[in-house]
Amino acid sequence: MKLFKAHIKKVTEATTRALEETGFDGLWIYSGHPEHHFLDDMGSPHVINPHFRWWVPVANVTSSVLHYQPGQKPTVYLYQPADFWHKVIDHSEDKWARYFDVKVIGHYSDLPKFNDWHNHAWIGGPELQPLPEINTNPKALLDHLHFSRVQKTDYEIQCIQKANQIALKGHQAARDAFYAGSSEYEIHMAYLTACQHNEYQMPYGNIVALNENSSVLHYQFQNRERLPKGQLKSFLIDAGANHHGYASDITRTYSFIDDEFAEMIKMMEDKQQQLCKLVTTGQDYIDLHIKAHHYIGEVLSEFGIVKCSVSSAVEQGLSSVFFPHGLGHYLGLQVHDVNGYIVDEHGTVKPPPENHPFLRLTGCLRENVVVTIEPGLYFIPMLLKGFVGHSDINWEKVEAFIPYGGIRIEDNVVVKKEQAINLTRTN
Ligand code: GLY
Ligand code: MN
Ligand code: MN
Repeated sequence: MKLFKAHIKKVTEATTRALEETGFDGLWIYSGHPEHHFLDDMGSPHVINPHFRWWVPVANVTSSVLHYQPGQKPTVYLYQPADFWHKVIDHSEDKWARYFDVKVIGHYSDLPKFNDWHNHAWIGGPELQPLPEINTNPKALLDHLHFSRVQKTDYEIQCIQKANQIALKGHQAARDAFYAGSSEYEIHMAYLTACQHNEYQMPYGNIVALNENSSVLHYQFQNRERLPKGQLKSFLIDAGANHHGYASDITRTYSFIDDEFAEMIKMMEDKQQQLCKLVTTGQDYIDLHIKAHHYIGEVLSEFGIVKCSVSSAVEQGLSSVFFPHGLGHYLGLQVHDVNGYIVDEHGTVKPPPENHPFLRLTGCLRENVVVTIEPGLYFIPMLLKGFVGHSDINWEKVEAFIPYGGIRIEDNVVVKKEQAINLTRTN
């Protein structure tokens, strides 16, 4: 709780500064509430407003409001209705609650009259926005808070580390299931069981891909069919876990036998680990992404996939055919944590370079920011089509690797002044 206490102190100070600098006297943050699908009385699982979760570490809260005015203890109006359809858990005595003034409410009518409070901002989704438009999700305030939220407290880093530890149990089980010949679906279920998570708790949909499915960056299915062992070539799994609302985001790739693809995975991992070590304060993330392209160029050259020099492969855009996504992103309460293009508290945007449009993070790294480092090398028929006949690509090699899909290796790293901390490898 010492870490959580320090966390709330930082959140309080950051919010006070943001309110002062953007001209508000206080703010409301709504947790959000679940809504039904069109013409239905069922809805999707509810995802709590990340601003609310920054303060309140409860997994299942809905219809609750946080109120903060600088100089006062924050208040949480915690919705705990009398409900015989659902289990209602009393969180008002939880340890986190001692840092708040918790008012349990049993009905919406018990919520305060939001408009009675002078010059307040409201942060919340479209399902409830009781204040005038100008006070609702004011951009200047959100930009300010987002810039603060990217830099993590020790409590948050501990949560992300725990989320890594949970996910690594899943990755171990998934790896074992792959080598036992399981289907994508069976691997997925083995992963969830090892993490003791249900699907609603996952920070994003598991990517569990055998063979050429590994070339689909966000492959979303889990095939129920087992592949005959003679057909099993490769396995890519991108899956995280959740601890107190914080995410991990880890990718591993395996070759079924000890072949050339296995050697390529080894070289990719070596390059990925080198990149992880460069995650120190002041590092320009665009430069790191470009460095990753040169590393991918080295792998392509080493395995005879391109015939030109590494720099020529990068300059001609060949590395982008095989590595079309960004090197990584911020990680925290959201798997792609708030706007990676904002480079100061005033919301100044630094867009990605024109030829790297999918890079999600463009600024210089600050201490205690958590990022993913996830270089990839894929054989994506759709992208390769645009280069058919290119004389610097060894098409015979490409054809041989297409059935393997591709490689991605992803760790979660804390930026430090001297030496980055790799949360995925230090457990
Ligand atoms: N799991 C999605 C990503 O790596 O960004
Ligand atoms: Mn990621
Ligand atoms: Mn991922």
